[in-house]
Amino acid sequence: QLILDTLDKEGTIKDTRTLVLPGYKEPAATHDSQIIILGALNSLSSRDMITYTTQETVSHVLTQEGAQIALQGSHEARVWNACPMKGEGPPLPIKELQGKVGPETAKIGQGQAFKNKWIGKEGDGLVKLVSSIADTTQLQMREVDSTGTLKAGEKALADLRKRKLIAQRKGQWFTVHKGPQFSTSTAKPETDLTVDMLTSGSWKTATYKKYNFEAAGIPPNGGALHPLLKVREEIRNIFFEMGFAEMPTNTFIESGFWCFDALFVPQQHPAREVQDTFYISDPVESLPPPKAYYERVAKVHEHGDYGSTGYRAPWSHDESRKLLLRTHTTASSANMLWKLAARCRGEEGEADAEGVVQREGAHATATVPGAGKMGPDGFRPAKLFSIDRVFRNETMDATHLAEFHQVEGVVADRGLTLADLIGFMRVFFRKMGIENIRFKPAYNPYTEPSLEIFAFHPQLKKWVEVGNSGMFRPEMLEPMGFPKDVHVHGWGISLERPTMIRYGINNIRTLVGHKVSLESVERSPAVRF
Ligand code: PHE
Repeated sequence: QLILDTLDKEGTIKDTRTLVLPGYKEPAATHDSQIIILGALNSLSSRDMITYTTQETVSHVLTQEGAQIALQGSHEARVWNACPMKGEGPPLPIKELQGKVGPETAKIGQGQAFKNKWIGKEGDGLVKLVSSIADTTQLQMREVDSTGTLKAGEKALADLRKRKLIAQRKGQWFTVHKGPQFSTSTAKPETDLTVDMLTSGSWKTATYKKYNFEAAGIPPNGGALHPLLKVREEIRNIFFEMGFAEMPTNTFIESGFWCFDALFVPQQHPAREVQDTFYISDPVESLPPPKAYYERVAKVHEHGDYGSTGYRAPWSHDESRKLLLRTHTTASSANMLWKLAARCRGEEGEADAEGVVQREGAHATATVPGAGKMGPDGFRPAKLFSIDRVFRNETMDATHLAEFHQVEGVVADRGLTLADLIGFMRVFFRKMGIENIRFKPAYNPYTEPSLEIFAFHPQLKKWVEVGNSGMFRPEMLEPMGFPKDVHVHGWGISLERPTMIRYGINNIRTLVGHKVSLESVERSPAVRF
């Protein structure tokens, strides 16, 4: 307010050291006063009410000794003070001076007081020679303390600096002018236009805070997608681009039949053992699968059929009916393929023109999405995919969890060959940004031939396994009712591995589970393969 009023009266303030701050008697010449003024100047200039320029100065402050002199007088003055006036009482014995003024003052002050002819010796004692003194040093200290300098000039200042009574200090003072928004009112400018301001008309005279286009802004506090969901979306889009339709995969719980038997996985296969699979204890058994199909599957396992010798091992109904958390989404693919073959089996009622088919048990009604034109034998080609969760009884470590996500694609058409699978795979992985892939012969109970897919990892500089694939076996497809010339290839990758590679995560527990930091989820960028 003082600055604004002074500007209003005088137009400019040439030197802020001339201001007399409220509550002070002296002008604001000291360092501390100028600091207070600077705070006010910054606040006023941010509102464009004033502008100011800074002037650098060197001023002086008192040292500890200087401050003591300002308060109690110089050493020589204190010695003079301690002595009685000549002829007005017994002289002060020299031995007693120390006790009165302290050893340091006694030492320094005595010599100077003698030199100034303020005191004299009488016997063994000291007496005042003059009745009053001018304590120049004290006056100088007081002057420096309140003005930061001495009228006497640089020579006197240099002398005091040498005596270590004062020290230099860099200081600032300011020249102040009116700004474009100058006003003598310090009322805060408005930041918002309110209904009240509009109705009262006060908006017309109000002052407004200038809009700050440089402000960083407040980050929006919205929801965020987990990295796995982002990568899932990328992969879904690749499938859609390539003409695939998404399979329903809402059956986390499957039967041994759909998870294994339908896929021609032998009932004695180690993947079916408790140490690898989570079985459900309540209910223990699934509803029975479609009877005729079930019988064909049991036969091809136990005795062989369709030109296969089968496993020639005893068939267990119980094994087939066990309920479990699905170990792969290929269980859903198998169920979809079975539905796709409904017309081939002549089941008119079960699959209509839209591909709507019925399935006993967990699935009620579902369609085979995106199936192509039907041939005379009832077959319709299809490209299907799914991305969903699977469960395995794994020992958890940095790269394994008991649940993860599988990405799975299935293509059914007449006369498909291994070359189609390999070609398809190259296109798909290229769309994911992986140019360099290799295939290695592998074994799956439900595919022959089977191929493991390896990709070159540019950071790890080595080939890493990224997926598993193959041509589904006739032992799986023919009991479903597919004509012999219909071939189906399929493949699966995990969702976690490409996500970890994309986001540079090497411990899966920082991606999934209770240790995931929400902040990292909020900050994770969207991915473009
Ligand atoms: N089910 C296989 C797995 O869990 C992946 C796969 C799907 C392999 C389809 C071949 C065909 O690894």
